[in-house]
Amino acid sequence: MKTIVILISGHGSNMQALLTAKHDYCIAAVISNKADAGGLAFAQAHGIPTAVVAHRDHPDRESFDAALTEVIEGYQPDFVILAGFMRILTMPFVKHYQGRLINIHPSLLPSYKGLHTHASALHDGVKIHGCTVHFVTADLDHGPIIIQAAVPVLQDDTEETLGARVLHEEHRIFPQAVRWLCAGQVELNEFGKVVNHRHKQPGFALISPSLE
Ligand code: GRF
Repeated sequence: MKTIVILISGHGSNMQALLTAKHDYCIAAVISNKADAGGLAFAQAHGIPTAVVAHRDHPDRESFDAALTEVIEGYQPDFVILAGFMRILTMPFVKHYQGRLINIHPSLLPSYKGLHTHASALHDGVKIHGCTVHFVTADLDHGPIIIQAAVPVLQDDTEETLGARVLHEEHRIFPQAVRWLCAGQVELNEFGKVVNHRHKQPGFALISPSLE
C-alpha cells in the first residue's frame, strides 16, 4: 500500500475528503504550517499523526522548506499531497518531490491562478468554472493536469455559492486523483506529461446556460 503525507494550512476539508473517501492508501501524517489549522484536530480525531512546521519560525522560504522536508521524510511517503497548503514552495523542494507532489486548485487551470479565483470568474462573467488537480512544478498553480471538474456559473451566484459548488467537486476529484496515483494509473512521464492508463473519457459536453 502506498503512503501519503498531506499538507494543509487551514480548515482542511479536502484533507477530510481524502481521509473519509474509500481509499487504498495509507495517510502517514497531516502536516500544517499553522498550529491553529482546523484540520489538525480532525486528523487527530481519526488517529492520524499530525505535525506543525510553522513558517513564521523560519527566516526565509529555503529554511522553511528544508525543515518541512525533514519532517516529511520522517514519514517516508510515496506521495506528498497539497490540500489547501498556502505556501509557495521553493525549487529544491519541488524538484525533490518531482512526480510525487500534487495540488488542488479552485479553478480550471490555466485560468485563474493564484488567489480569489471565484471572484475573478464572476468578474469575468465566465459561464463555466471549476477545479483542477495537478502535479506541482516550478510554475505557481500550474503543472501537468491530472483531473478537472467543471461547474456552471449561475446567474445569481456569489463568491460563496460558486465557491461551495466548486469545493463540492474538489472533494470528489481529489480522492480520485490520489487513488489513481497510488495505484500507478496516473504518472508524470519523462517529458513532463501526464499519462493516464485508464483513458476513460466522457462523451458529453457541459453547456452553460443550458440549451433550450
Ligand atoms: C480549496 O479550495 C483548495 O482548492 C485551495 O484552498 C482551499 C482549501 O480548502 N487550494 P480546504 O482547506 O481543503 O477546506
